[in-house]
Amino acid sequence: MSYYPARAVVDLAAIRANVARLREYAATAQVMAVVKADAYGHGLVPVARAAREAGAAWLGVAQLSEALALRAAGDTGRVLAWLYGPGAPLAECVAAEIDLSVPAPWALAEVREAAAAVGRPARVHLKIDTGMGRSGQLLPAWTDMLHEAVEAQRDGLVRVVGVFSHLARADEVDHPSVRTQFDVFAEAVRRAEEAGADLEVRHLANSAATLTEPAVHYDLVRPGLATYGLSPLPGREPAQLGLRPAMRVESQLVVVKDVPAGQGVSYGHTYTTRSDTRLAVVPLGYGDGVPRHASNAAEVQVGGHRFRIAGRVCMDQLVLDVGGTSAAEGDRVVLFGPGDDGEPTAQDWADAVGTINYEIVTRLGARVPREYVG
Ligand SMILES: Cc1ncc(COP(=O)(O)O)c(C=O)c1O
Repeated sequence: MSYYPARAVVDLAAIRANVARLREYAATAQVMAVVKADAYGHGLVPVARAAREAGAAWLGVAQLSEALALRAAGDTGRVLAWLYGPGAPLAECVAAEIDLSVPAPWALAEVREAAAAVGRPARVHLKIDTGMGRSGQLLPAWTDMLHEAVEAQRDGLVRVVGVFSHLARADEVDHPSVRTQFDVFAEAVRRAEEAGADLEVRHLANSAATLTEPAVHYDLVRPGLATYGLSPLPGREPAQLGLRPAMRVESQLVVVKDVPAGQGVSYGHTYTTRSDTRLAVVPLGYGDGVPRHASNAAEVQVGGHRFRIAGRVCMDQLVLDVGGTSAAEGDRVVLFGPGDDGEPTAQDWADAVGTINYEIVTRLGARVPREYVG
């Protein structure tokens, strides 16, 4: 297990298979694999390479630093970055041929300046808020921003290559808000084309919409979660969608010891042994991204048995009550994985701690080594 007694094993064959499957769902639309937040915890560069190998024509990130890291790693394909603040180093991104989101008029002004400084038009995707109530402009303000962008295009400073939006409730199958957002998007696209934008890509589908709403695929879909083999749809298993979870988090037991009945376990003694038993220490804690809400709630697997975490998750350690089994120091512990061998899944963890599978994989700490297979 090397210096660190835990690891996240990431199956790149699963990533490739998931991207290939998503391309089937996308049909004639292109696929943008969303690799923000260190590829949802899976590792930016290895995942990006695997996604490209499987035919992802685009990569999507939130931060400029993530886009620049892709370029530094040698990625030369289309990359879109959609989150930055006033004063960000946009010139560096324009020079690196990174497509930029324009969510607000100030951003358009800064993109123009950056393009003028670099001496090359910036490729921009205008963000319309079709109902998410987050980034982008609502339709009236968006139209003003659109006209400014088209003017900047005439000046040779930008190329309006995309119009995009984000869906708020696509994970609720057949939710009427998807249709409402779609209608606003269609109107935004119509106005853009009428104003003279020569759009390469119109896009608003996340994983859930990629899997369930072909009508909103347009030219490009942007699946994040599904790239990693996790399901965005409540009650639908990844396998039912043709997806395979790519991450397995495992560790080993570092201390196993006999204790009497009545032994309080971990901070606050929120778990007390009921009979003479054995406790086992797992060297992972909230400093590794294990949610503290998993205390006395989430299960892990050791030697074919599942155990609920006993007592509170500490910063670096958690404890199991492994009484009645032959668990021993050095035994492998699986926190979550694809579920093939009866181990819990990221979805099981999300259910146990009251969150979503996205958060379980993405929050895994940077200090846990990633190991790549496949
Ligand atoms: C703008 C945008 N597009 C696409 C995605 C991918 O979403 P999902 O992981 O649900 O597929 C995200 C993630 O939140 C996003 O912010």
